[in-house]
Amino acid sequence: MNLTLVNKIAVKLLALIALALVASTLIFLVLAHNFSFKFLSDPSRYTGNFVAKYNIVMLLIFLLSILVFIAIFMIPVNRKLGYLHYITQEVRRIAEQNNLGLVVEIRGKDELAELGLSINAMSQELQKNFEREREAERTKSELITNLSHDLRSPLTSIIGYLDLIKGKKFKTEGEFNDYLDTIHSKSQKLKGLIDELFEYTKLSHPGFKLDYQKIEFSGLLEQIIGEYLPVLDGEGLTISKKLPQEDVEAEIDVEKIVRVLTNLLENAAKYSVKPSQIEILLTKKADKVRMSILNEVEHLPAQPPEKLFARFYKEDYARTEDGSSGLGLAIAQKIVELHGGSIWAIYLDKAVEFSLELPLAAHPRP
Ligand SMILES: Nc1ncnc2c1ncn2[C@@H]1O[C@H](COP(=O)(O)OP(=O)(O)O)[C@@H](O)[C@H]1O
Ligand SMILES: [Mg+2]
Repeated sequence: MNLTLVNKIAVKLLALIALALVASTLIFLVLAHNFSFKFLSDPSRYTGNFVAKYNIVMLLIFLLSILVFIAIFMIPVNRKLGYLHYITQEVRRIAEQNNLGLVVEIRGKDELAELGLSINAMSQELQKNFEREREAERTKSELITNLSHDLRSPLTSIIGYLDLIKGKKFKTEGEFNDYLDTIHSKSQKLKGLIDELFEYTKLSHPGFKLDYQKIEFSGLLEQIIGEYLPVLDGEGLTISKKLPQEDVEAEIDVEKIVRVLTNLLENAAKYSVKPSQIEILLTKKADKVRMSILNEVEHLPAQPPEKLFARFYKEDYARTEDGSSGLGLAIAQKIVELHGGSIWAIYLDKAVEFSLELPLAAHPRP
């Protein structure tokens, strides 16, 4: 709040003193004048102790004007003091548990009202922090629960196969090699899961900083697609891509964005109908770049699109996938949001489209 001069307490007090002074003086002058005029103009009263009587009445008039002065001064001041007292009590209440977020009533426009506004801002900020912390606590325990479950299943199967090998419970060398293969793939899965989890935790850390670099976005995208072409080809997938003619210079954390693009491409490959075509479209806008990737699916996911970005969320058809942690899109979303961009999915008729938008210039961390 910008305080104007007339709203300052000091100015108001001065004005009040002046007003009280003028009023009390006026009252004194009027009463004293009237009384003196009446009293002195009647010679019949000039008897005995008339001087003493005159002085007493004048003293009373003087006291009355002082009372008027005090009354005019004290009534507004008392109101302000009452407000101060109210604020003190409310602050005490806010400090008690469960009262965070409580606001004080704002009266007037002076420094006290400003104090009230600051207290309200503080109270609401405290409440937000408190809730954020509670949410972080809840998220952490949820993460641990999900994680224990996801880590246990590959580990259980690794131990199971190792027991079989230890107890020499295989008949042929082929069977022995099958066990080894399973142990190997489950270990890989476990490592992948731990890596993703580590990445997710790192990105969630409040002090995490992106490592911005300037890069030409279409070139980067083409390179990633190029690396995946042989894999996609083997699975009967083709890619149709539309990239802009002009260069798309963007300031991004290249390593992290590569992770996002790779995950989107891997998902499209993993979850699309085979054979089919994956469509990639890149467009440059005034201050951002937008990429979308579309693949055909047998059935649309059962949950709404936002849900796909939730940690550990996997559709039933993905549960059996070995490389599936359910963290890929959650990580992608974190990375894109750290860049100040957004990522979303929409369901079309028998197809899923993921889009992301990134600002072209580095985004200052909030
Ligand atoms: N391109 C896609 N087409 C269809 N479903 C998808 C696609 N991408 C993601 N999904 C669904 O969203 C879920 C979450 O994806 P993600 O977070 O990358 O985890 P993951 O790939 O490890 O399962 C997947 O399990 C899948 O059910
Ligand atoms: Mg994935």
